[in-house]
Amino acid sequence: MRKFKAKTLLLAAAVGLLILHLFKDFSDSKTLQHNFDVREDQVQLRQPITKSSSYVYSWTRCQQNTSASNITGFSSLPGNIKDFLYYRHCRHFPMLLDVPEKCGGAEKSAEVFLLLVIKSSPVNYDRREVLRKTWAKERLHNGVWIRRIFISGTMDSGFEKERLNKLLEYEKSEYNDILQWDFSDTFYNLTLKQILFLEWMERNCPKARFLFNGDDDVFANTDNMVEYLQNLKDNNGNKHLFTGHLIHYVGPIRDPGSKYFIPVQVYESDSYPPYCGGGGFLLSGYTALVIYNMSQSITILPIDDVYMGMCMAKAGLGPVAHIAVRTAGLHLPSKTLDAYDPCYYRDILLVHRFLPIQIYQMWHRIHDPNLICTKQPADG
Ligand SMILES: *[C@@H]1O[C@H](CO)[C@@H](O)[C@H](O)[C@H]1NC(C)=O
Ligand SMILES: *[C@@H]1O[C@H](CO)[C@@H](O)[C@H](O)[C@H]1NC(C)=O
Ligand SMILES: *[C@@H]1O[C@H](CO)[C@@H](O)[C@H](O)[C@H]1NC(C)=O
Ligand SMILES: *[C@@H]1O[C@H](CO)[C@@H](O)[C@H](O)[C@H]1NC(C)=O
Repeated sequence: MRKFKAKTLLLAAAVGLLILHLFKDFSDSKTLQHNFDVREDQVQLRQPITKSSSYVYSWTRCQQNTSASNITGFSSLPGNIKDFLYYRHCRHFPMLLDVPEKCGGAEKSAEVFLLLVIKSSPVNYDRREVLRKTWAKERLHNGVWIRRIFISGTMDSGFEKERLNKLLEYEKSEYNDILQWDFSDTFYNLTLKQILFLEWMERNCPKARFLFNGDDDVFANTDNMVEYLQNLKDNNGNKHLFTGHLIHYVGPIRDPGSKYFIPVQVYESDSYPPYCGGGGFLLSGYTALVIYNMSQSITILPIDDVYMGMCMAKAGLGPVAHIAVRTAGLHLPSKTLDAYDPCYYRDILLVHRFLPIQIYQMWHRIHDPNLICTKQPADG
C-alpha cells in the first residue's frame, strides 16, 4: 500500500513538472524572457550546454525576410549586402559553446575587474593560443582579476564546419574561454556577435567592472589597462566610460568596392555618430549594459564599432579618445627606427595589427627586467 502511494505521488509529481514545463514554454514562447528562463535552468543544473540540449532545439531558425527584395535598388546591391538585408532582423542564435560560470556567476561577477572580450573566428587557433599565453592571460594584476573570453560564430559548411566546431570544443574544454553561437562568422555579422555577447553578459557577468572589447590581432598592454582603469577617479565600473581610438565626423562609405560599403538602403544618413575603432576599446560594465539596452530598439548596422556608437548616442552618451590606443598603428618619427622597439610599446594600451609571433615576442620584451628605455615614446 505504502509503495503504491509513493509511486502514485512520484508519477503525479512528474506529470505536474511536465505540465509546468509545457506551460512555461507555451506562455513565454513569444517573449525574449523565455530564452533567459531556459538558460537559467541549465545554469542551475550545471549541465553543459551541448547541441543536444533542449535550449538549442527550442529555437526555430530565423526566417529570411523575403520582403527585403522589395527595397528600391535591391537587385543591384552586392551579394553580401543582399544577404545582410534578408537576415538583418535575426538576433537570436543557438549557443554551441557556453561558459556560464566564467565570472563566478552573476552576483560574484563584481570580482572581475577587467573582462577581455576578444572577437575571434573559429579558424584563428594560433592567435587564440598566443593570446592565452600573453596579454590575455587570466591573472591577478595589481590585486584585481583579469578574465578572458573569445566570442565566435561558425565558418564554412559541411565537414569543414564540423571540424572547426570540434576544434573550438576542444579548446573550450581545455581553457573554458569560448562562447560560440551558430551564425556565420562574417565581417557583416560582427554587430550580431557584439549583441549576442552583451546579452550573455547581462545574464552571466552583469557586474564586471570594465571590459576590453577587441580583435584577436592586436597587441594590448593589459597591465597598463588595469592601471589606467584603477587610476580613474570615482569610477568603479558603475559610471559611463567608453574610450579608445576616437573616430568622428565621418559617414558611411558609399563605394561598393570597399570592405566597409554601406548603401543608403542599409543606412540613410550621411553621417555616423562618434565611435571608437573596433580594433579595441575599453568600456565600463555600466556602459556595456546601457549599450545592450539601447540595441534592443536600434536596427542592426553591419559595422559593429559604428553600431556601438549609435547605441551610445541614443542614450545621450559618447566615446572619448584615449591617446594610447593606436588602432591605426604607431607613427614613428623616422623610418630608420625599429618599428618593433619594445620601448614604444611599453607605455601604450593597444596597437593594431600584430601577428602571433610579434605578440609573443613583444609581450616578453616589454616585461624584460633588463629593458632600458632612453628614447621618447613614439608620437601619434
Ligand atoms: C514585397 O515582397 C513580398 C514577398 O516577396 C510580396 O508578397 C509583397 O507583395 C511585396 N510588396 C510589399 C509592399 O511588401
Ligand atoms: C522586412 O523587410 C522590409 C523591407 O525592408 C521591412 O520593412 C520589414 O520591417 C522587414 N521585416 C522584418 C521582420 O524585419
Ligand atoms: C549572418 O549569419 C546568418 C546565420 O548564419 C546568415 O544567415 C547570414 O547570411 C549572415 N549574414 C551575413 C551578412 O553574413
Ligand atoms: C537596462 O534595462 C533594464 C530593463 O529595462 C533596466 O532594469 C536596467 O536598469 C537597464 N540598465 C542600464 C544600465 O541602463
